[in-house]
Amino acid sequence: MYNLLKGKKGIIFGALNEHSIAWKTAERAKEEGAEFVLTNAPASIRMGQLDVLAKKTESQIIPADATSIEDLENLVEKSIEILGGKIDFVLHSIGMSVNVRKGKPYTDPNYDFTTRGWDVSAVSFHKTMNVLYKKKAMSNWGSIVALTYMAAQRVFPDYNDMADNKAYLESVARSFGYYFGRDFKVRVNTISQSPTPTTAGNGVKGFDGFINFSEKMSPLGNASALECAEYTISMFSDLTRKVTLQNLFHDGGFSNMGVSDAVMENFE
Ligand SMILES: NC(=O)c1ccc[n+]([C@@H]2O[C@H](COP(=O)([O-])OP(=O)(O)OC[C@H]3O[C@@H](n4cnc5c(N)ncnc54)[C@H](O)[C@@H]3O)[C@@H](O)[C@H]2O)c1
Repeated sequence: MYNLLKGKKGIIFGALNEHSIAWKTAERAKEEGAEFVLTNAPASIRMGQLDVLAKKTESQIIPADATSIEDLENLVEKSIEILGGKIDFVLHSIGMSVNVRKGKPYTDPNYDFTTRGWDVSAVSFHKTMNVLYKKKAMSNWGSIVALTYMAAQRVFPDYNDMADNKAYLESVARSFGYYFGRDFKVRVNTISQSPTPTTAGNGVKGFDGFINFSEKMSPLGNASALECAEYTISMFSDLTRKVTLQNLFHDGGFSNMGVSDAVMENFE
């Protein structure tokens, strides 16, 4: 390990179980010397195994529904108290579509479900940054990262309304990132990750076929949850201080491919 996050303090959203990208990021952040608070929605904490991770990483859990400003204010205030100072890094690793869960097609959703999924998956990032910004909670040269997927730019039919939520999330990173950069020298980026077998990933229809396709299309193969965690750690470290307002593809090259030999073999 490299002590890349020695002395840094953070908040990590979205670790549900050992498959979660946020779970791997917390483990790696601990190994790199960081101290952090873990958070998730109260219902997810009851369902998941967050206490196991908290024990392993010697961190405290503060429940917060990321769509509630009140919960987020409590989270940020308590985190500063527990960690004994301002926040250096934040990971937003949250996604959920009610339309996907309930099997509603993209062409005919339930719009209450659309609104809820948008709030959880995208507006929650704006709300989190709103609270951090108002409370002047981030240290200078801090780093904020949210996780996204390439369906924000290209069509992946089964990704349903999560494609629109991710497009919104990426735009919020740029727009809010301007103010964070100007006022606090804080960077804000999204990492666009390969399909990954997690609880959220497996919820996408046809995920198994899709992950195999993506593996064959990417010259370096799919990026794993651990590899995503490692890239995220680099974005929290002082080695990436001038990277901001970016959507960073972490996908083994998938996003710039047209077709690969391995995929073409199926059509010859
Ligand atoms: N798995 C993939 O294929 C993939 C690919 C690209 C991007 N991503 C993104 O990575 C992020 C993490 O997902 P994951 O794959 O690790 O799956 P995951 O299911 O382990 O994590 C999703 C998390 O969102 C949390 N969440 C849901 N509603 C919430 C709320 N109201 N408040 C707070 N937290 C809430 C869940 O409790 C869960 O911990 C998501 O943004 C996801 O869209 C995943």
